[in-house]
Amino acid sequence: DWDAGSVIEEQVAAIRERVSDKRVLCGLSGGVDSSVAAALVHKAVGDQLTCVFVDHGLLRQGEAEQVEEDFVASTGVRLVVVDAKDRFLDALAGVTDPEEKRKIIGREFIRVFEQAARDVVGDAAADGHPVEFLVQGTLYPDVVESGGGTGTANIKSHHNVGGLPDDLQFALIEPLRDLFKDEVRKVGLELGVPEAIVWRQPFPGPGLGIRIVGEVTADNLATLRAADEIARHELTAAGLDRDIWQCPVVLLAGVRSVGVQGDGRTYGHPVVLRPVSSEDAMTADWTRIPYDVLATISTRITNEVASVNRVVLDVTSKPPGTIEWE
Ligand code: XMP
Repeated sequence: DWDAGSVIEEQVAAIRERVSDKRVLCGLSGGVDSSVAAALVHKAVGDQLTCVFVDHGLLRQGEAEQVEEDFVASTGVRLVVVDAKDRFLDALAGVTDPEEKRKIIGREFIRVFEQAARDVVGDAAADGHPVEFLVQGTLYPDVVESGGGTGTANIKSHHNVGGLPDDLQFALIEPLRDLFKDEVRKVGLELGVPEAIVWRQPFPGPGLGIRIVGEVTADNLATLRAADEIARHELTAAGLDRDIWQCPVVLLAGVRSVGVQGDGRTYGHPVVLRPVSSEDAMTADWTRIPYDVLATISTRITNEVASVNRVVLDVTSKPPGTIEWE
């Protein structure tokens, strides 16, 4: 019988023994895996663990706060937050090509994370405590997919970036290596990780940056964040979270259409709802959301989000459509 409590006990003992009095670093993304891995390692070694959260400004409404406030409050981890929002906006200015956006976001992310890691390593060394370990939220399916080898010291982050530079080499701690996603969730709940994080649906590393068809600007991000927040709220209220794999909301920033709102004619942007059902994201079907839920989402978005005057539904399977639009 699988039991979260004994998995935690075993891992805590093993991590304590391995880490001894050394220091440990962990990058948090806001997702389930890195959060649960961090909570587990924190339970084992407490403040010998330092977590780093790079706020790239591409998360959804409330998600940065979930990491910076709720996760910290519920686990007690020592967290370094790097506010890199402006840096990412600057780097993305004028860019509309999806692959170029991904490259820029991945590149900036690793640069910012490396600098933060250097600072943590330097501070610890000044106190006479070398940082020797890096936590990663690798799951069993990732291990199988990559041929089952033990990890080397590079970051296989949600941005799929390459290795760390020579002065930042760590041994890996991968406490979730034997677990499937549903088991990770149970471990997370047992450790007191907030439900909103434990049950978070998949969200791409490049975040809202690849859900704006067009340029990623502060205005476009604010518009998309507001529309996305309404869609998420209404889907949750309708009890649909566990039926839906994820529901990207996409802003077509480069498209305008004519509408009539309030007293006059508008020339605004459409947003696309992309609800999908899936087992593993390799294939997906569009989810048959009840019409009344769609109607509520559409009415609220067009009433409440300035510059959006049309809500459209994506009814494409994967294949041929990918889940994300970029
Ligand atoms: P697609 O769009 O390829 O997405 O059907 C499949 C799944 O992967 C997520 N996705 C990403 N996740 N970095 C990530 O960590 C990425 O660059 C990325 N692109 C897509 C997507 O949300 C879906 O769950």
